[in-house]
Amino acid sequence: MRVNVTVNGEQRQADDVWEGESLLFVLRERLGLPGSKNACEQGECGSCTVYLDDVPVCACLVAAGQAQDREVRTVEGLADGERLDPVQEAFVEAGAVQCGFCTPGLVVQAHALLDRVPNPSDPEIREALAGNLCRCTGYEKILDAVRLAAARR
Ligand code: FES
Ligand code: FES
Repeated sequence: MRVNVTVNGEQRQADDVWEGESLLFVLRERLGLPGSKNACEQGECGSCTVYLDDVPVCACLVAAGQAQDREVRTVEGLADGERLDPVQEAFVEAGAVQCGFCTPGLVVQAHALLDRVPNPSDPEIREALAGNLCRCTGYEKILDAVRLAAARR
């Protein structure tokens, strides 16, 4: 089947998509957007988090066909040209990135949190990021990054 979807503000099209194919596969393998990561492919780690019509979702759990005629925003779509989004900048500055595999999903999830709750408490940050696993950082630097981004936005 053919899937038409708006990705990061651009109308995109993928052909010969299999009915069981995930949105994550289409983004990474067909549309050349490898920012969203594929770690567990079963909704457990959050590394594939993207916005679907402004709601953060695990792209590995969304069938590509469900994105038909909808809007997707990936981590690649957060920056304004060469200028990083404040959340991306904060992750870099706070040292919240080690291997980086979890980072795109955490950045999108943190971005969505700060849109909803501009000054979140620590429990609110922890709850919002609870579905995003990181095996490197121990999470403290990630919390620092979200606090820093909140202070700057
Ligand atoms: S790859 Fe989608 S939740 Fe882990
Ligand atoms: S930085 Fe490696 S998994 Fe989070």
